Amino acid sequence: MTYDFDKLIDRRGRNSAKWDRRFIGEGEKSLLPFWVADTDFETLPQVKQALGSCVEHGIFGYTLPPEGCPAAVARWQQVRHGFHVEPDWVSFLAGIDCAIATAVQAFTQPGDRILINTPIYTPFFEMVENCGRRVTESPMPLVNGRYEFDFEDFAQKAKGAKLFLFCNPQNPTARCLTRKELERIGEICLENDLLILSDEIHADIVFDGRRHIPLASLSPELARHTITCTSPSKTFSVAGLVASAIIIPDPDVRRPFIEVRERNSINTGILGLVAMEAAYLNGDAYADQVRDYLQANRDFALDYFRKNIPGITPIVPEATFLLWLDCSGLGLKREELESFFTSAGLRLSGGTAYREPTGQFARLNFGCPRSTLKAGLERLAAAAGAPMA
Ligand SMILES: Cc1ncc(COP(=O)(O)O)c(C=O)c1O
Repeated sequence: MTYDFDKLIDRRGRNSAKWDRRFIGEGEKSLLPFWVADTDFETLPQVKQALGSCVEHGIFGYTLPPEGCPAAVARWQQVRHGFHVEPDWVSFLAGIDCAIATAVQAFTQPGDRILINTPIYTPFFEMVENCGRRVTESPMPLVNGRYEFDFEDFAQKAKGAKLFLFCNPQNPTARCLTRKELERIGEICLENDLLILSDEIHADIVFDGRRHIPLASLSPELARHTITCTSPSKTFSVAGLVASAIIIPDPDVRRPFIEVRERNSINTGILGLVAMEAAYLNGDAYADQVRDYLQANRDFALDYFRKNIPGITPIVPEATFLLWLDCSGLGLKREELESFFTSAGLRLSGGTAYREPTGQFARLNFGCPRSTLKAGLERLAAAAGAPMA
């Protein structure tokens, strides 16, 4: 089956965080949204059918995870990412943000140091700080237009840290780390007996023939030190169903994690798990096609920036549907950047929300039909070409 990702589906008035942002001025309603990281694509028919059957039944009492869901997660990991997962390693949680909070509470104490790389998806530091733990940042330097892992700095800061919150493929830099890089990261973590939470939510969207390598798949020893977080939400447009799968091979890590989950009552709803099972059993062709469509969107955007918007330099995404933009060539002060995008008629995510220090970056979500992307880029080109008021 061929899926139609060019299809325009109006999400306005459907309680979409991206399109219906509340508490905004009238003028802002006309902004084209390229911020919240979900896609504007219809999910696959099997997911709609599975949800439809659940809805048709009409009783939504307390539920259990569908019996086949752990095996569906294991199948997906094996077939798509070469990671052998036993079904009983899998547990379910509301979104991955909950998994971060759960791991922080289960494995660290107030005041402990938790290691992250920056720039990074906001909950990586917000959750830690909200729980009264300390964040240690190991920044990823931008070298010749590509974010690199600074192993020396990381090894230094890994000493005495209690948990490493890792993100690969990475939001917002869209790096997909190589086997060599992952092996070195793994070595450093093992040398320091550092537990890792590896957020791999973007694993299915990897470009140019690269392969995503789950960190835990590198060795049994690393698997015992790793909590792998994954979810169908990005690939299959089901983020609003709020369900994630957490893979923990070591029972001595799994037990305290699940205890905290139970204590905090952050289980998923049934619809999210029904959708997850259907996606992971039937979604291979969809995942291939959405990845290819997004790669073509990426190439379209890169080409457009090169030809029409010289003041903004995109960091070439190796994965994800996130385009990290170096806007320093626009010559704007950090506080002027957001209003520049707003006056262009666009809503992007500002880079400072990811602990990017220069204030010269923004993130553009290209998970949309190409015509929407083109319309957004045209607005941007018009604003970047015009002198600032
Ligand atoms: C790296 C990363 N982790 C987690 C999430 C959110 O996941 P969930 O919706 O499962 O909480 C996002 C969403 O943008 C993300 O980019």
